[in-house]
Amino acid sequence: MKENIKELEKRKQAARMGGGEERIKKQHAKGKLTARERLEILLDDGSFEEWGMFVEHRAVDFGMDEQKIPGDGVVTGYGNINGKLVYVYSQDFTVFGGSLSETHAEKICKVMDHAIQNGAPIIGLNDSGGARIQEGVVSLGGYAEVFQRNVLASGVVPQISLVMGPCAGGAVYSPAMTDFIFMVEDSSYMFVTGPDVVKTVTHEEVTAEELGGASTHSKKSGVADLTFVNDTEALLMTREFLSYLPQNNKEKSPTIECKDSINREDLSLDTLIPEDPAKPYDIKEVIHKVADEGEFFEVQSNYAQNIVIGFIRLNGSTIGVVGNQPMVLAGCLDINSSIKGARFVRFCDAFNIPILTLVDVPGFMPGTSQEYGGIIKHGAKLLFAYAEATVPKVTMITRKAYGGAYDVMSSKHIRGDINFAWPSAEIAVMGPKGAVEIIFRQDIGDEKKIEKRTDEYREKFANPFIAAGRGYIDDIIMPHKSREKLINSFEMLKNKEQINPWRKHDNIPL
Ligand code: HXC
Repeated sequence: MKENIKELEKRKQAARMGGGEERIKKQHAKGKLTARERLEILLDDGSFEEWGMFVEHRAVDFGMDEQKIPGDGVVTGYGNINGKLVYVYSQDFTVFGGSLSETHAEKICKVMDHAIQNGAPIIGLNDSGGARIQEGVVSLGGYAEVFQRNVLASGVVPQISLVMGPCAGGAVYSPAMTDFIFMVEDSSYMFVTGPDVVKTVTHEEVTAEELGGASTHSKKSGVADLTFVNDTEALLMTREFLSYLPQNNKEKSPTIECKDSINREDLSLDTLIPEDPAKPYDIKEVIHKVADEGEFFEVQSNYAQNIVIGFIRLNGSTIGVVGNQPMVLAGCLDINSSIKGARFVRFCDAFNIPILTLVDVPGFMPGTSQEYGGIIKHGAKLLFAYAEATVPKVTMITRKAYGGAYDVMSSKHIRGDINFAWPSAEIAVMGPKGAVEIIFRQDIGDEKKIEKRTDEYREKFANPFIAAGRGYIDDIIMPHKSREKLINSFEMLKNKEQINPWRKHDNIPL
């Protein structure tokens, strides 16, 4: 028995050392933590239970039968974050470059199966050279097994990918199918084909960083939801992020104790909207001022900034926020912002997170590039997502709600539960000037006449009263009362039940 215990300890120690001291040093030299160090930061102290420490690959070709490292390049198991169960896998770059073998994939699949069955989030820490080259198609099969589970877990448990090193080729598609992707600046990259292949095929010269670094994916492609300066920040922020999410699709949105005053009034909101309707203001100011303790966990903050998305708490409960941002493109909806908003609305709806929509939208972005790019189809995604969502939906129109965009942004007609407007709201088919230039085309050129007609139109239509008169707006509220009104509404909607007709699945315009 004594010998067995010694042997066990020896083997465990070997597994803990991964690819050995030299490779660990190299990992640190790149500014990266090891797979195990990362888990130590991510999980509550002492909560990690590891599985598969003794798993070894089964390859024999290319001398692989003589190179076996227990654990086979991925550390897997479960633990707690803020006291709640999560399943984790953490790829170990010091073992065959974290590459995915048959057994490496089996280890990941095992934790994913448990996550689905036991209803807890799965967090993947990705740092891998991709398919284990020595294993060939067996490794590709392993990837597909992971992909399959990503799809089965989608909408069942939250899936979060941290990309903390290379992630290339088809390997990118596992993170791509998860709910959120966080990247580490300067040490992670994601691309389907690397710079060398790009050069051969398209003759473009591009670095790995330019092609698929954190900055590229958070600003240009929108693939990454957030980026962080180093591993530690990424892991600590993931812990905070998790605090906003339920464990699975059957749980309600989480609630923590609220230390902020429910009736807190913010008089500065009464003067936030500029007199001149063409002048912008920052919608994030509204979000911070209504949220518990002013806290807003924004995601995709550097991408399609004409729409703002993220999580706040109201009276301690998680609320997903979608807001048009007048500071960027006047808050117009375009292709990228529609996709960004739609995916977020669907995430919230899948995980029972109520949605607050803040509206200041002059309409959809005009132009050939938008039309050729398919704004019809992509704009429809946001409309579709809102219209199918059955979670509590509270809408607050701060200023413009024009045209089709009025309908899209969680209007009463697509089952907005409570629709508020500030007195500054302008709800109409289009802005006064555009409207007058169409219905009084004969007056174009006569500036005075046009101005008079525009004033008339503004007075008649650019206000919240007509919509409120129809019941499309439930109440016109003073901006400083917003927090209290929103909290009361979401509390009132806490037990909302709404069921869509049975179907295999819908056919959202992809
Ligand atoms: C086996 C691998 C490996 C791989 C790296 N290693 N990638 N072993 N299979 N895919 C090993 C290296 O041999 C080396 O072993 C160690 O990991 C570290 O690699 P280095 O090259 O020294 O590290 P670095 O300079 O940081 O470069 C990292 C890298 C590079 C950019 C990831 O290793 C690389 O280009 N690897 C190949 C990537 C690739 O082509 N993968 C297949 C893609 S296709 P030692 O023993 O020296 O420490 C794919 C398809 C997926 O993934 C399809 C899914 C459907």
